[in-house]
Parts: sequence; structure tokens; C-alpha cells
Amino acid sequence: MLETLLAFFGRTHPLLLHVPIGVLAAMLTLEALGVWRRKAPEWGTRRDLAGLLVLSAAGAGVSGWLLAEEDYGGSTVTLHRWLAVGFVVGCLMLAVGAWRRSVRIYGAFVVVATGLCAAAGHFGGTITHGRDFLTEPFFKKPPPARSNRGADSDQTALVEPVSIYTSVIEPIFADKCVSCHGPDKQKGGLAMHTPEDLLFGGDTGPAFVAGDPDHSEMVWRLRLPLEDEYRMPPKEKPQLTDAEVAAIIKWIADGASFD
Ligand code: HEC
Repeated sequence: MLETLLAFFGRTHPLLLHVPIGVLAAMLTLEALGVWRRKAPEWGTRRDLAGLLVLSAAGAGVSGWLLAEEDYGGSTVTLHRWLAVGFVVGCLMLAVGAWRRSVRIYGAFVVVATGLCAAAGHFGGTITHGRDFLTEPFFKKPPPARSNRGADSDQTALVEPVSIYTSVIEPIFADKCVSCHGPDKQKGGLAMHTPEDLLFGGDTGPAFVAGDPDHSEMVWRLRLPLEDEYRMPPKEKPQLTDAEVAAIIKWIADGASFD
């Protein structure tokens, strides 16, 4: 029961994390207005906001920690986690500054907390939206031009041999891997839904070595015992059949071609 509640609280993270951001934004706005009007905000107001900030940051932090325990992993999560811990500590220090009415401590940690909030937020976004989400509009490729050739070429397209990758490998990945390694999540920094992403690899490097299954990270993980923490797919998820594993190994051994 407790475990269920904790897991539930973890899932509120995407909601709770916005509260400290809002409070911090209010605080910054107030300080900016203070500069504009040449009259700093009252210490009482700063203290109230700082208290609210610490509480909401702690709530977001604890829920995020619980969520990460559940099934997230990989270096982006680690980075996000420790930047967020830094942010919570920064908020605490800022509150200490407000409490002691020290402009220096308060001011310094408003700056520190804002920086850490932006950095933690950025990597949090990377976890849920993917690494290129923010800059994607700048690099969007135009959709491939439709060919206007007649029925003849359509006929040839039908008899053209389809590649092993598209007919066998891609469907396995789509079915058993892309939920964690795809457009929405890139666990371990790895996406597997396009050839480019597959070739790009993950946090620890290439996912496979073409022609050499025995030195391919992916194959090593597929062959690990079910309980192993590095095993793919993880124990609780739908597993590959022996034939599917064999097909992937053969595909890599044959040079991992996408054609
Ligand atoms: C339930 C989610 C989940 C599914 C499904 C899943 N993985 Fe993973 N995968 C992870 C996590 C989490 C990591 C990072 C943690 C780790 O190193 O074990 C990871 C890491 C990897 C890595 C290492 C990336 C790197 O460079 O660190 C490879 C390769 C990989 N997975 C392959 C696969 C393959 C192949 C499948 C499908 C057969 C698959 N995974 C299915 C969660 C998943």
C-alpha cells in the first residue's frame, strides 16, 4: 500500500515541478520591479516567497526522486537529479538569506537557484521530450517530395525486395524497444526508431558494431540473464523470442545494413 502511494506521488512529479518554477518566477518579477521602482521588496514578502519556494521545491524533488526510482535510468536522469538537488539546496540557502535579511546571501542564491532551475529543467525536458526537442524547429527537414511517376514505377516498387531491416528488425525494435528508446523516451540516451538514431548510439557509445555481434552492446544486453540489471528488455517488459534475438544477431553479423 505504502509502495503504491509512493509510486503515485512519484507520478505527480510532472505536475509538482512547475510550482517552484512559478514561485521563482514571481520572486524574480518582484525583484525586477524593485529595481525598476528603486524600492526593494519587503523582507517579509521575500521570506514568504522563499518559504513557499523551499516547500514546493522539496515536494517536486521528492516526487522526482521517487519517479526516477520507478523505472527511469541513464545519464540524463542522473544529471537532472543532481542539478535538481542543487536547486533545492540553493532554495534553502536563499531562504536562509531572506530569513537573516542578508542581501548578499539572498541575492547570490537567487542567481544560483535560477541557473540550476534552468539547467535541471532543460535536462528534465530532454528526458521526456527527447534530446532534440527544443532545437528541432530549426533543423526540421522538408518532407520528402512525392514522386509523380506513373503506375509503372509503382509496379516495380511492389516487386522490389524489401530490406531485412524494414521487414524483420525494425518491427522487433518498434514492438519491444521503442517504448523506452524512441521519440518519447531515450533511456540510456539511446533512440532506436530511425537508422540515424540507431547509428548515433546511446550514452555509453554505439549500440552495435556492424559485422561483430560479440562486441555489440545490444547483443551483450539481449543475452544477459533475465535478472541482470543491464538486461534488455528489462525483466518486467515483454521479452524477445529466441528467433527474434537470433534475427538481430544475424542482421548485425551481416553488417547491420539498412538497405
Ligand atoms: C522498459 C524500458 C526499456 C525497454 C523496453 C528497453 N530498454 Fe534498453 N534501456 C533501458 C534503460 C533504462 C537503459 C539505461 C540503463 C542501463 O544502462 O541499463 C537502457 C539502455 C540500453 C542500451 C545501452 C545504451 C547506452 O549507450 O547506454 C541498449 C543498447 C539498449 N538499452 C537496448 C535495448 C533493446 C535492443 C531493447 C529492445 C529489445 C531495449 N533496450 C528495450 C530501458 C529499456
